[in-house]
Amino acid sequence: MLKSDIQAKLLIVDDLPENLLALEALIKGEDRTVYKALSADEALSLLLQHEFAIAILDVQMPGMNGFELAELMRGTEKTKSIPIVFVSAAGREMNYAFKGYESGAVDFLHKPLDIHAVKSKVNVFVDLYRQRKAVKQQVEALEQSRREQEVLLAQLQLTQVELEHAVRMRDDFMSIVSHEVRTPLNGLILETQLRKMHLARDNASAFTLDKMKAMVERDERQIQSLIRLIEDMLDVSRIRTGKLSIRPSEFDLSAAVGNLLESFAAQISAAGSSVNYRSEQPVVGQWDEFRIEQVVSNLLTNALRYGAKKPIDVSVYTRSAWAVIEVSDQGIGISEENQQRIFHQFERIAGSHVVTGLGLGLYISEQIVAAHDGQISVHSALGEGATFRVCLPL
Ligand SMILES: Nc1ncnc2c1ncn2[C@@H]1O[C@H](COP(=O)(O)OP(=O)(O)OP(=O)(O)O)[C@@H](O)[C@H]1O
Ligand SMILES: [Mg+2]
Repeated sequence: MLKSDIQAKLLIVDDLPENLLALEALIKGEDRTVYKALSADEALSLLLQHEFAIAILDVQMPGMNGFELAELMRGTEKTKSIPIVFVSAAGREMNYAFKGYESGAVDFLHKPLDIHAVKSKVNVFVDLYRQRKAVKQQVEALEQSRREQEVLLAQLQLTQVELEHAVRMRDDFMSIVSHEVRTPLNGLILETQLRKMHLARDNASAFTLDKMKAMVERDERQIQSLIRLIEDMLDVSRIRTGKLSIRPSEFDLSAAVGNLLESFAAQISAAGSSVNYRSEQPVVGQWDEFRIEQVVSNLLTNALRYGAKKPIDVSVYTRSAWAVIEVSDQGIGISEENQQRIFHQFERIAGSHVVTGLGLGLYISEQIVAAHDGQISVHSALGEGATFRVCLPL
């Protein structure tokens, strides 16, 4: 606000209405509003309601006089720094004048009033007031912008931390991905070199039907794991861009999980584990069959990886409005503090002796389940196995 926009309020107090009118006519102006009080009481109530640039007090009033009113004003926080001008009959009230200065008054006007003296005195005070006000507003504006800068700075610092985290995640991710991709590729290249060597030696016994069958199966596993890695990374970018689509169709969850377990038979025995499956027949609902299979195979792969070769329990059942899939293992378990973390992308628990995979399985699974308006939860304690439960709306 500009200094010229600041309105100053003036208070004049006199027990005679004609004096008030005369004084008002003298001091009024565009940049100010004049408030009139006929008694000290009236003046006090105005003083509490408004912020005045100056108070002009008649010294001689019945009841509380001008000096007493000034004393009261000096004793009150809101009014104590308002400049006061006393109006008194000169000569007759010199004692009063002295008392007035003692109580901290700023100035005196003497009756009969000198028009120019009154005008210029009031102008000085109004000007002072408006200048002070303008400075105060500038200081407040500065303070405000300083606070805004502080908020901006805090946001900037937060963004920096987030950015650093993102960069670290990206670097970690790159090294995990290259490791994960290299493992199956190394397997494949070793196999190829071995076969080339046998071929160079015309060693036909290395290529009997039995041996070829095992070779193809090994190749297929390596290629499958490469495909899975790529699919997972694609899913993450689909999730990030909101393009993970769910295509629901009616199917029986019990049968779907049963079929999936059959296709896992080779992996289960390769992991030295076994699976015990219990299901209510049938559990029919509308879900994306492919995506739900993806969730269950993630949980199953984890149970095989982290299940310490102990038997795994899988069950499918209904509970009120929900279809529930449970995968339980008796492996290394997950501490409470890590149970939130594992659902975030690229989070793998360091220190657990088996660390393989990108740390994406549970993140993708949770997103798929959430897209079905379902829930995924874990119950576990370190060293005591883990139970993952998926609830899907029926
Ligand atoms: N059944 C389990 N028992 C113990 N720890 C588990 C279990 N399942 C998951 N975890 C922990 O949670 C982490 C995250 O699991 P998630 O499935 O997201 O990733 P991953 O299995 O490491 O890799 P990916 O699934 O991408 O191949 C795992 O690295 C593991 O530390
Ligand atoms: Mg996993």
